[in-house]
Amino acid sequence: MFSREENEFLTRVAPGTPIGNLMRRYWIPALLSEEISLPDCAPVRVRLLGEDLVAFRNSNGKIGLLDEHCSHRGTSLFFGRNEACGLRCIYHGWKYDVEGNVLETPAEPADSDFKKKIHHTAYPCHETAGIVFTYMGPPQKMPLMPAYEWVSLPADRMHVVKAYLDCNYLQGIEGDFDSSHTSFLHCNNLADLARLNRDGAPALEAEATEYGMRAISIRKLSADQSYVRISPFILPAFSIVPGPATAKFEEHDSRAFRFWIPRDDTSTWFYILTMRDAPFSDDERAAARSWVDSNYRRVRNAGNDYLQDRELQKTRSYSGIKAVIPAEQDACATESMGPVYDRTREHLGYSDKTIIALRKTLLLAAKSVQEGRKPPHVIVDGKDNDFSRLRAVKGVLPANSSWRELAESEKVTV
Ligand code: FES
Ligand SMILES: [Fe+2]
Repeated sequence: MFSREENEFLTRVAPGTPIGNLMRRYWIPALLSEEISLPDCAPVRVRLLGEDLVAFRNSNGKIGLLDEHCSHRGTSLFFGRNEACGLRCIYHGWKYDVEGNVLETPAEPADSDFKKKIHHTAYPCHETAGIVFTYMGPPQKMPLMPAYEWVSLPADRMHVVKAYLDCNYLQGIEGDFDSSHTSFLHCNNLADLARLNRDGAPALEAEATEYGMRAISIRKLSADQSYVRISPFILPAFSIVPGPATAKFEEHDSRAFRFWIPRDDTSTWFYILTMRDAPFSDDERAAARSWVDSNYRRVRNAGNDYLQDRELQKTRSYSGIKAVIPAEQDACATESMGPVYDRTREHLGYSDKTIIALRKTLLLAAKSVQEGRKPPHVIVDGKDNDFSRLRAVKGVLPANSSWRELAESEKVTV
């Protein structure tokens, strides 16, 4: 049974909350590079961990992520002038650089040094893989960016898209560690009911790792074969899941990294970074983001009941929700729980074993920050973690062998 206190502990993300403090100890995605693609382009609003910010790319291409509200009297810098290496408030012309220094206060007397006494909130940014990452924690505790696979992969081998999720981040990420739902929610062929009955109740395991945890699901295919899937959870809220057998980019050895980034307590930015060993064509890129509009809102959403088709549900699909990617079906399952699901009302079974492990991983990491210790895999100086071989894996193994053999045979770490 999950208590009200535990639910609050794991779902609140504003400054000063346990999970808010944990998330602020890592580099997290703030927005996509394409949202501010050119120097001096229009600034964009960024809501992140309950804070209202504005992002801009200055004349030299440097990215700034500032408190949205001007330090003078609070006008939104979203409406500001992005010019000559700074963002200028349109109310009285105060101008900020990407580090939050006040460069000019033109309405003050010429000899005033007022501006030197003010520092505007600004978070450091780091751009890689088409994503602008930011660090919102204490400056002296800023970690290095781990060497993930996507840090050094050529741009044409990656595709990234983000989508708005209208609920708390934990509901979203729990879906990635809920192996049994894939057999139901994502069943798009009811004719394969035999498979549903066979696959619906996998054996589950979870293990703590240096980066967070890994979840393992094992489905019996026959007396002597098992289908094994292994999914890493990387703190603070990243996951790698093996694609379903029907995944679009499957034939090119694709793998997808997901980031579940709290916008605030009741909404989330969900990023999917797909990587593979062959370039993506423009058509594939367009198809891979055809499920969101220009504001990154899903075409299928709560407002239109996810375009659920009851006839399709009767005849072909378990959910009745057509999807370009399975995450569209996941969104119906997780958003419909409510903005922040009240977990005191849930009834967890065996199939929720890896979700319980996920919550415990977050809980322990947040507690270690509360107690003044470093959270997992945070390295402030020296050589950072090499996560470049970290993958989700899936495959068929002889029934009595350990899932570890799968990772070893694929020459990856999990
Ligand atoms: S409120 Fe921004 S310059 Fe006055
Ligand atoms: Fe799913």
